[in-house]
Amino acid sequence: MTQFITIAVDGPAASGKGTLARRLAEQFHLFYLDSGAVYRAVAKRILDLEKNPDNPEDALSAALYVRDHLTSEMIADPAIRSDSVADATSRSSRFPAVREIITGILQFYTNHPPVNQHHKPFQGSILDGRDIGTVVCPNANVKLFITASPQIRAERRFKELSARGIVTTYETVLQDMLDRDARDNGREVSPSKPAPDAVHFDTSHMDSDHVFEKAVELIRQKLS
Ligand code: CDP
Repeated sequence: MTQFITIAVDGPAASGKGTLARRLAEQFHLFYLDSGAVYRAVAKRILDLEKNPDNPEDALSAALYVRDHLTSEMIADPAIRSDSVADATSRSSRFPAVREIITGILQFYTNHPPVNQHHKPFQGSILDGRDIGTVVCPNANVKLFITASPQIRAERRFKELSARGIVTTYETVLQDMLDRDARDNGREVSPSKPAPDAVHFDTSHMDSDHVFEKAVELIRQKLS
């Protein structure tokens, strides 16, 4: 593989897109960028300042802050993974001005990946999110859209939260997820949707190894 490649992995919450994108990044030596983490960093900033994620001005000033102060620690911060941040993220990320700023950051890093720890240049970038194949990287070499039924996704997220010691119920997790899906799918700008040329994987009855193997096969085919 000599060309610089871009892979877009989109899909709803707990569909398995993050796990898949991370493994593919390692397999093909790509820079991995979790776009949801950048949107989450914006929402966390809003909550930290006790501002309102439904207010476009508060959301815009947090997006500008993240643009100007973004660090790898910020997107690796476990605090951005909480349910309250997830809920706030699906509110603040619906504003066009916020999306424009974050899309700019994502496109910059896609095309200029940082030098990695082994000082070996990446062979490309892989991003996961909701609008990577449609808006952020419309020219991606490979586009995947990962789905699973809401019940299966809620079961996965419930197990994940329980393993982290977070006390909740399956019903709460399912309802939160349906609410967030509705906001992400229904917003006017960059709704979560597959690109017309995306390949769909329904992971409801596939384990993560199987999804990974299928994706590797597909990427090899597309790049050959
Ligand atoms: O995997 P999960 O949905 O839990 O989280 P995520 O991918 O970190 O996304 C969190 C939220 O960020 C989503 O619910 C969307 O509201 C927003 N997001 C977005 O609008 N566009 C993206 N490209 C990625 C995330």
